[in-house]
Amino acid sequence: MIGKGVGVLTLTNITKSWGQGDARQQVLRGIDFKLAAGQSCALTGESGSGKSTLLHLAAGLDDAESGTIILDGQDVTALNDAGRAALRRTTVGVIFQQFNLIPSLNVAANIAFQARLANRADPAWADALARRLGLSEHLRKYPEQLSGGQQQRVAIGRTLAARPKLILADEPTGNLDEDTGTRVLDLMLELVRETGTTLLMVTHSGRLADLLDRRAHLERGRITP
Ligand SMILES: Nc1ncnc2c1ncn2[C@@H]1O[C@H](COP(=O)(O)OP(=O)(O)OP(=O)(O)O)[C@@H](O)[C@H]1O
Ligand SMILES: [Mg+2]
Repeated sequence: MIGKGVGVLTLTNITKSWGQGDARQQVLRGIDFKLAAGQSCALTGESGSGKSTLLHLAAGLDDAESGTIILDGQDVTALNDAGRAALRRTTVGVIFQQFNLIPSLNVAANIAFQARLANRADPAWADALARRLGLSEHLRKYPEQLSGGQQQRVAIGRTLAARPKLILADEPTGNLDEDTGTRVLDLMLELVRETGTTLLMVTHSGRLADLLDRRAHLERGRITP
């Protein structure tokens, strides 16, 4: 059982630059950030402030320049590629704005996919998720046959099916109209809370940010609480 006070994600003095020479730009200038188990946090900030960069570092998809990232007790910055890949399979779930479903797999197989990679295939849980996400009627359909909101619900189901400790979501409802986006996010938050999953979600919307436990704001390369 995970206590609320235990850090699932801890960033210490993270810096990151992009580009070389004159084009070099320091995007993150010393990020200190901690997310406790079971907490949900909105990450806000202007376009270009480095929100996606930060999420990619936390997911081990890119390298930080300096600093440490501890994810579920493991130092991501010290892991090799295989170690990071394993962490992404079993510990972290990533949800992007574009739904990133596998086009050749139907809804049921898309939902089962991540859980199978994590070695946590659980048909009863996958079924329950599909039902909760309103996808039971669509299990045999392919992603191209679904609306945007339906596709994002599949992406959420696929992520939750693997029972990750931490979900990193980058504007998960950014491609949806406001009403659909709110409904999809409500469902995601309900499931995240029930399962005790920790969530860090990038959003431009103050209204959506208010639905989460807390907010972190990225400005001039630093996080202000
Ligand atoms: N792979 C990359 N190569 C070079 N520069 C990059 C790369 N990724 C991001 N950047 C730069 O880093 C800065 C921060 O980008 P990032 O995508 O993290 O911002 P963001 O806060 O997510 O913005 P948005 O709200 O528009 O999604 C930008 O100036 C961007 O041009
Ligand atoms: Mg972004």
